Amino acid sequence: MTVRLGDIAPDFTAPTTQGEVSFHEWLGDSWGVLFSHPKDFTPVCTTELGYVAKIKPEFDKRNVKVIGLSVDPVESHVRWEGDIEETQGTAVNFPMIGDPDRTVADLYDMIHENASDTLTVRSVFVIGPDKKVKLTLTYPASTGRNFDEILRVIDSLQLTADYKVATPANWKDGEDVIIVPAVSDDDAKELFPAGWNPVKPYLRVTKQPNR
Ligand code: BEZ
Repeated sequence: MTVRLGDIAPDFTAPTTQGEVSFHEWLGDSWGVLFSHPKDFTPVCTTELGYVAKIKPEFDKRNVKVIGLSVDPVESHVRWEGDIEETQGTAVNFPMIGDPDRTVADLYDMIHENASDTLTVRSVFVIGPDKKVKLTLTYPASTGRNFDEILRVIDSLQLTADYKVATPANWKDGEDVIIVPAVSDDDAKELFPAGWNPVKPYLRVTKQPNR
């Protein structure tokens, strides 16, 4: 099944390293990041999981729950987590879905047969509190993801969910933003009383509104 932006994230119940999870219920009112790994006991995945564990407080601060997946069973994940703690210096502090029968992987189209018919690709789904998919990313097995970028995108998603702004290239939290084109100048005067820089009629730069 292809999961696209704006779709309701498919719900599922699956075993994890922290017990059975019913996905929507587990998400509750939080944002969520669901991300997949090709296989347990592989080097790039080991570094990714260690890094996510290290920056988990950053996800917590943003009210985001994180959950990983690979098509190996939970018992294998648990054994692998010992290696991750040993080599990466942080214990895995979020649930890892065991998906040996590929139920969740198929639901989220995480197996791309022309890349590998047995391994999950490196998928990322960011899900909003409305359970809708806000971001999808797909990386090959050979390239570890930049999880700081995922935090950066979440900052943009959360800001743009609340204000009629968009964020420019390489934007980081605290930097200037763009008033969305759908807002007229008259409405913008009310919404952005501090004003904006009219670089072009369609490119109106303003301070980040929640700062
Ligand atoms: C890795 O995580 O290192 C990896 C997994 C599958 C294929 C290649 C690399």
